[in-house]
Amino acid sequence: MRILSVVGTRPQLIKAAALQPVLRRFCEEIFVDTGQHYDEAMAGTFFAELGLARPDHTLGIGGGGHGEQTGRMLIALEPLLRDAAPDAVLVYGDTNSTLAGALSAAKLGIPVAHVEAGLRSFDRRMPEELNRVVADHLSRWLFAPTAAAVANLAAEGITAGVVDVGDLMLDLAARVSAEIRDPATLKPIAEKLRLPLAPGRYLFATVHRAENRDPIAMAGWSALLGAVARPDRPVVLALHPGTRAALEAAGLTLPAGVAVVAPQGYRTSLALQLHSAAVLTDSGGVQRESAWLGVPCLVLRTTTEWVETIGGGGSAVLVGLDRQAAMRELSARAPLARTVEQAVDRAARIQLTGSGAAERIVAGLTAGTGAGDRN
Ligand code: UD1
Ligand code: UDP
Repeated sequence: MRILSVVGTRPQLIKAAALQPVLRRFCEEIFVDTGQHYDEAMAGTFFAELGLARPDHTLGIGGGGHGEQTGRMLIALEPLLRDAAPDAVLVYGDTNSTLAGALSAAKLGIPVAHVEAGLRSFDRRMPEELNRVVADHLSRWLFAPTAAAVANLAAEGITAGVVDVGDLMLDLAARVSAEIRDPATLKPIAEKLRLPLAPGRYLFATVHRAENRDPIAMAGWSALLGAVARPDRPVVLALHPGTRAALEAAGLTLPAGVAVVAPQGYRTSLALQLHSAAVLTDSGGVQRESAWLGVPCLVLRTTTEWVETIGGGGSAVLVGLDRQAAMRELSARAPLARTVEQAVDRAARIQLTGSGAAERIVAGLTAGTGAGDRN
């Protein structure tokens, strides 16, 4: 079976790294990178770190508005898909690359497989919500990561082709967690970043959602980060280049106590989460990872599609840009006097088990095709 998979952004490279080794045992893969993310720190570095294959096609389409970016991807993908004539096109998540891959395949009558199907924030102001709704409704295979995602699809009348496969990102996190559990992992990171990082003595943050890039929102989260930072517990903000550009365009500077660093590699990102006092983020991936790692996570959004991480046994809480709520939740979940002990204990106990998503996705794709093990 020949699968053409489309990636383009940092989280898609990470998801592809979890699926690719299994996919390539059973299928021929044509690997296409739209180039939506193009900085070395956002894209190139993950190929080497995660052992991803070199793309067969690199489209070099990054930047621009949503319509322009998606349109250029459609223009580039259509002839490529027509020539490659794959049995299926596989897309991940909810980015413009997902939308372009699904739409161009569907228009050519090529079946679409959607990994991370069924997620809903029920907020259609989010570009991601539009992308995922369209991709789901165009797909033949809908690989849902959670039971809630399956229920969301059923509520929209989609049941055929839906399988709850688990979360690919958990598989990768489980594989890597043993390498980062030793608190000594922080030492080279601290040296590289020139920051005095010790377990439980810093907060880790990322911010990149479109709604958090307008000037009012940026002033809001920047004040929030400033309010939770303390001299003995700074915020380490791994800043997405798009957010950095938006801050510069608005002439905003971040408060003292917020140390801005470049986007980090995958293992560094996981290690910085695991050994922190708490995480503050608007990233879906980081929100899940910190939940798996058991790190308190303040989500800088008012909605989430990852409902399992919130309430009950989940370690995340939605605080939006509410400074008081952030300070309250932080003192409840990571009281200053206990953060070192919490971080040390968490790292000592960490034991993640993969979800088996990659195997289930490949089984779903190849069922009935007679595709054998290629090795
Ligand atoms: C995209 C996805 C979002 C995902 C995120 C992962 C869409 C609509 N959004 O958001 O769902 O969570 O990726 O990180 O697809 N830029 C650079 N260098 C890069 C990449 C981006 O400078 O390597 C800057 C450019 O100014 C670009 C801006 O960031 O215009 C936004 O990038 P874009 O890929 O359009 O969206 P993200 O915000 O990265
Ligand atoms: N990540 C990373 N370096 C960073 C910040 C995040 O490798 O500096 C990883 C993070 O650990 C997770 C993924 O990127 O695996 C999440 O991607 P992102 O936040 O860009 O997108 P989202 O998940 O919100 O779509």
